[in-house]
Amino acid sequence: MSNFKKLDVKVPYEHNQRRTRLIGKHVLGKHGKIDGVDDYSAVRRYIPRSSVEAFKSCLPADILPYISGVTMTEITLLAPHVHTKEMCVINFYQQTHGEVTTFYDGKVEVDDNWTQDNGNGYFLCKPELLSPAGSFVAEDGSVYLLNTRAPHAVEEPNDERVGNDRYKPIKKDKRMVVQAFLDLPFERVASYF
Ligand SMILES: [Fe+2]
Repeated sequence: MSNFKKLDVKVPYEHNQRRTRLIGKHVLGKHGKIDGVDDYSAVRRYIPRSSVEAFKSCLPADILPYISGVTMTEITLLAPHVHTKEMCVINFYQQTHGEVTTFYDGKVEVDDNWTQDNGNGYFLCKPELLSPAGSFVAEDGSVYLLNTRAPHAVEEPNDERVGNDRYKPIKKDKRMVVQAFLDLPFERVASYF
């Protein structure tokens, strides 16, 4: 079974591809810190309420009560991880650079050997217990549903680096992704699309 699904969702023009504004610099959460890298791997920020409503309006009414939040998330590369709060997420990709999102099969065990997190709803998995199960490359403006309870990572294509070096950012620009978090199992949400 795949743990991601491309969604046929149309985002209003004024919110599509880098047009969504941030509210100041208010940060909702920071996740994943790799040894030797100053920044966190994922930083979630608030967007205006009107933008939140605009993104919700693109989605089936039946899933709206299960949305726990909508943020703009700045993402560099991400080591294999799972989320412990939301069950799945709908990603509205606003700015990407050919990064590969890979899902893994295997045993999920916490790993904070070389990457640390602050325990707020996200943990790294031991990569030696995992094997790649499927991947996709999101384009600007595309929308995907992701199963955040399955291990997943964001990597550079054809990266020959090993260990934590694989997750050290090599591009200056981060990915910008509007994320709608859902307290509903991936399969249930997928069935609405
Ligand atoms: Fe994630």
